[in-house]
Parts: sequence; C-alpha cells; structure tokens
Amino acid sequence: MLGRRRVGPGALGALLVTAWVVILALYMTIHHTSKHVLRLGRPHEAEQDTAREPLAPNLAESLAALHTFAPLRPNVLPLYDITVAMCYPVFGCALPKRANDREAGDWVRVDRPVYASVAQWRGRHAGSFTRKPLSKFGSPYLFYRRARTMHGRHIADVQLVEASAAQPIGDDWHQLRVPRPKFSRKRTKYALYFRTGYNTTDPITELDVMYGPNPPPPGFVVAGSIPAFQGHGKHAARMTVIVRHTPKPTPRAPPLRFNANGTFTILQIADLHFSVEELACRDVEDVDRCASQNDTLALVERWIDEEKPDLVVFTGDQLNGQGTSWDERSVMPGWLVPIVRRGIPWLPLFGNHDTESGYLTRREQMELLALYPYSLAQVGPASIHGAGNFDVAVRAPAPSNEELLTLWCLDSGDHPPFSLLHPWEPYLYDWVHTDQIQWMIKQLRQKMRIAWPYKPRPPPLTSSLVPPHLVMPQISRVQRPPGIVFVHIPVQEAFDAVDVDDNGDEMRFGVREERFSRLGGQGRRGLFDALEHERNDDTPGVQLYVHGHMHNNEDCRRVRGVWICFGGGVSYAGYGKVGFARRARVYQVRGFGQTLVTWHRMDDREGRIEERVLG
Ligand SMILES: *[C@@H]1O[C@H](CO)[C@@H](O)[C@H](O)[C@H]1NC(C)=O
Ligand SMILES: *[C@@H]1O[C@H](CO)[C@@H](O)[C@H](O)[C@H]1NC(C)=O
Ligand SMILES: *[C@@H]1O[C@H](CO)[C@@H](O)[C@H](O)[C@H]1NC(C)=O
Repeated sequence: MLGRRRVGPGALGALLVTAWVVILALYMTIHHTSKHVLRLGRPHEAEQDTAREPLAPNLAESLAALHTFAPLRPNVLPLYDITVAMCYPVFGCALPKRANDREAGDWVRVDRPVYASVAQWRGRHAGSFTRKPLSKFGSPYLFYRRARTMHGRHIADVQLVEASAAQPIGDDWHQLRVPRPKFSRKRTKYALYFRTGYNTTDPITELDVMYGPNPPPPGFVVAGSIPAFQGHGKHAARMTVIVRHTPKPTPRAPPLRFNANGTFTILQIADLHFSVEELACRDVEDVDRCASQNDTLALVERWIDEEKPDLVVFTGDQLNGQGTSWDERSVMPGWLVPIVRRGIPWLPLFGNHDTESGYLTRREQMELLALYPYSLAQVGPASIHGAGNFDVAVRAPAPSNEELLTLWCLDSGDHPPFSLLHPWEPYLYDWVHTDQIQWMIKQLRQKMRIAWPYKPRPPPLTSSLVPPHLVMPQISRVQRPPGIVFVHIPVQEAFDAVDVDDNGDEMRFGVREERFSRLGGQGRRGLFDALEHERNDDTPGVQLYVHGHMHNNEDCRRVRGVWICFGGGVSYAGYGKVGFARRARVYQVRGFGQTLVTWHRMDDREGRIEERVLG
C-alpha cells in the first residue's frame, strides 16, 4: 500500500551523503584521467621485432614535437632560450613577455619543479586528496624554447652552481633568477646559468630536472647538482639539472634467438624496491656496512657477468612506492645501470608498488621504459587492464625464424579499487583480469605450429648431391611453441596441492618462508584455469609461471602439470630476512625449448645453486 512519506532528517542525511559520494566519485574519475602529466610526441607504435632499428631522431619528428616535453624522446632541434617562472594552480605560470621571435617555438615546461621538496611533496601524495592543500602554493619551473632551425643562436651550455662555488664568467653567460616559493625555509643558495653561442656544433637539445643520487638517463649529462633538503637517507636529497647535447640513436635489442647449441638463458631480477634517495638496508645483519641500492646493483652486475644471460626480466616492484619513489624518472636510470651498460636485452613488468607513489601512470612509465636502450618493453593493448601486457618471441638461430618459445608478460595490477558493492571484502591484491586472459588466448591461438623436436636447418644447399636425410627432419609432432608467463603477483594455484611423481614424492623444491601466502596472491583465480583449458596436443601452452612479490619465497612447485616458481628477493632495499641470502633465479631453456632448467645465484655463495630440471 502506498502512503505519504515524510522526508525526515535521516533521509536528508542519506541524500547528502549520497551526493557527496557522487561528487567524490566524479572527482576521482576526473583526477585519474588528468594524471597524464607527460605528453609524448607520438603514440607508441607496436614494436615489430624485425624492425628494431636504432631509435634515431629525425628532423620531421623533432619539428612535430617542438612544443612537447618528452625528455626520453630524442629531439634534434637545439634549445634557444631558457627561463624560470613560478607556476600556480588555477592561475597558471607567470612567463616573461619576450619579443615574439618567429625562429623559436613556444615555451615548453620541464614538468618537475626546480624545488625538490615540492616535487617530493607532490610525488608522494600523487593520487590522494592531501595533494590539494599544498597546491595553493606556487613553485618555480624551468621552461625552454626550441629553435626551428639548426643554425643561429642556440644554447651551448647550462650550469647549476652553489652560490659559494666559482661562478661562470663571460659575456655569453646569462644568469637565471630562480624565484623562491612563499613557504620556502632555509635552503642551499644556488644560481642557474646558461651560455649562448652561434652555430654551435654540439648545442643543448634537452633539459630536465631530477632528484636524488641516481645517475642521469642514458644520453644526458649533469649540468649541476645541489643538496636540496634533508630527506630520509643518510645524505641530503639532491636536485640535479641534466642536459642532453646532440642526441645519438638509442640502441635497440636484437630479436631474441636461441643459441646455436639450443640454449636460452633468462635471469630474473625480482623486487628491487628502489627509491629516489638511497635508504637504509632492510633485514641485514650490519646496516652500517650496507648500501641498499649500490650493493644491490653490484650483486646484479656480478650475476649478469657470471651468467651472461640472453635476457634479463625485471618481474615487478622495481620501485619501492610507499612515498619513497616519488619521482619515477629519477629512479629509473638507477636500477637500469647494470643492464644499459652491458647492452643485454631486458624487459620489465610492474608490481603492486611501481605506481604507488609518483607522477606517472602505469602506461606512461611503460612508455618510458620502452625508450631505454636494449628494452623489449611494450605498453600493450590500451583496451585491457594494466600496462605492459605483451609477448616476446624467442626464435630459432638465424637465418631461421621460427618462434620456438613465447615469453608472456602480464600486469597483475596493485589493489582492486574499493568496491561500494562489496565493502566487506578484505583488502586483496589485484589479479590478471578476464580481458587480459582473452587477449592472451587470442594471441596464443595465432602462434604458428612447427615440427618438433626442432632441428636447426641444415646449411644451405650448395650442390644437388646433398643426401635427402639431411633435408628431411624427423618429425614426431607438430605443435605451437611452449611458453613462460612472467607475472608479479602469484596465481592462487601457487598455494594449491602439489603434483606427486611416480615415487609418490611431492614435486617441489626450494624455500617457502612466507605464511598466509594465499592472501598475498592474486585476488581471483582465472588465468591458470583458462590456460589449462587451452592446453592440448596441438598447443602445449604455458609450461612455467614466474613470480616475484614474496621476497622470502624462492621455491618451484608443479601444480596440475605446470611449474610455478618464485625468484626470491634480490634487493637490500626491500624486505627480506636476516640470514636469508638475497638471491636471483636463472631459467635456462635447453634443446630449443624441450627442457627447462633452473638454479639460483646468491649473495653469499658462488656458482649455480640447486640446479634442477623442471620435468
Ligand atoms: C651561422 O651559420 C649561417 C649559415 O651557415 C651563416 O649564414 C651565419 O653567418 C653564421 N653565423 C655566425 C655568427 O657565424
Ligand atoms: C651454449 O651457447 C652459449 C652461447 O654461445 C654459451 O654461452 C653456453 O655456455 C652454451 N651452453 C652449453 C651447454 O654448451
Ligand atoms: C653509490 O655509488 C655511486 C657511484 O659509484 C656513488 O656516487 C655514491 O656515493 C654511492 N652511494 C653510497 C650510499 O655509497
């Protein structure tokens, strides 16, 4: 029966709360979509592994990106003018008026403040409501203008110097006044200079600001560095101005191939947990004699030099999140030092911490990682969950080109957004979503079938007298290539019952230290079941899952016919356990994809440790 209802204070309250929730939801949606602070010159093109030319900048692309700040995308056009201006939220930036020179483009903002504590504050609070209050303060930013031509007056040099140090002298040097933000307290006094020159042979073509002790990205040099503020590390956090002169082509990774003897070796680097500053080591015996990032890099370098892997896979949580990796661009060059220096192909995945702090979305970070030397990173399809869902083929030795092994990278996200419909759900980790699984299965079904066991093609026919048995390989089956999945957060099946072998022994080895493991795994099942369903005589599919995420788990176990391995924590910057060596897992595929073997490298022992065949 319908009766007249009075709107009581309770209902009014509920209405107000609902309205507030709607406003919040709208705010968060807008806030999320406007997080794209970095606009790249052109969309990331799907990388064809046959077309891995060095990434060389050309004039047309450079002109198209005249007004774009994309520091890792080389631009050949020289800088023509530099200034510093205060920028305020809502009101914008107070840029100087200059005669409109048709030779030069508009002002381009270097999108990090020339004021480290503001940069830190904004980066730490990215994506949270607490960002608002401080935004009412302005902060100084660097701006530059690019010339449209290679001739004329350009910027030849930039220097950032402390006030107490020797200042550059000469008519060509111009000092920039860096305004102080209103809330600034005591800080290092410094000056910023630039020098102009005519028809310079090696003009400056890019300018950027970074923080902390990490080295600049490849191609950049330091134009000056000052102690900025006392942060969490032993030393004051630094602010550094970096520049790039005429850009050189970025070397690219060649297509991955098996060696002639049928091996392919992968070194897994799990959970580096790097920050803008170098923080104290975690869970080590002697904190004072440990440098969390430097000692970790030394380990990675040692393992790379000992193994000489064909590929290095960073399986997520390269960044520490938790407020300490507050500028991703300042941290990236640090964890990539060992790999860039050695020119080894590498690929990254993201973990739950990689986008916990900082300025960039997952896609933006993956776009940047794809621009580093020897990177095989791809952003992956935009229409599915996560960034960095892609596959990489490992092919037969040249001149053959068959895909003998597929490496799959999947993004297991961080945490699912709080659901109003299921507010009682525990704070789970995210998972590989249905759209990602569907994408992967579609790719899997398109793989070419080849004859197994694979035999390298005989040398080219030089005469018609080659015996026929050399040309006709003995085929036992025709199948698609097998695969390995790399995904940061473990699938739930990693905590299920283990297969038993013919002797009744459980098929597992290695150390599993972390309890409550299941709650630390992916929040939903799906990937493992779907891929099991895809597996048949024609498609052996995925043979191995490789996980990071749990630093004190380093075991391998076979579940429903498939191996699931944890790498074990590599880094002194991430949690571990006193007495539990930092370690990395190596996977070697032998016989052109027939056999999988794995072992560990450890910080306190030499050689291969616990080498096992994954049978
Ligand atoms: C710079 O180069 C241009 C073109 O080559 C030339 O016309 C000009 O005189 C040069 N300027 C100076 C200052 O050398
Ligand atoms: C196979 O070849 C690679 C590269 O030439 C080499 O590093 C590796 O030691 C070889 N492995 C075996 C088992 O011969
Ligand atoms: C780490 O290594 C770099 C380069 O070798 C050095 O400049 C820096 O001082 C080191 N940091 C620590 C904490 O030892």
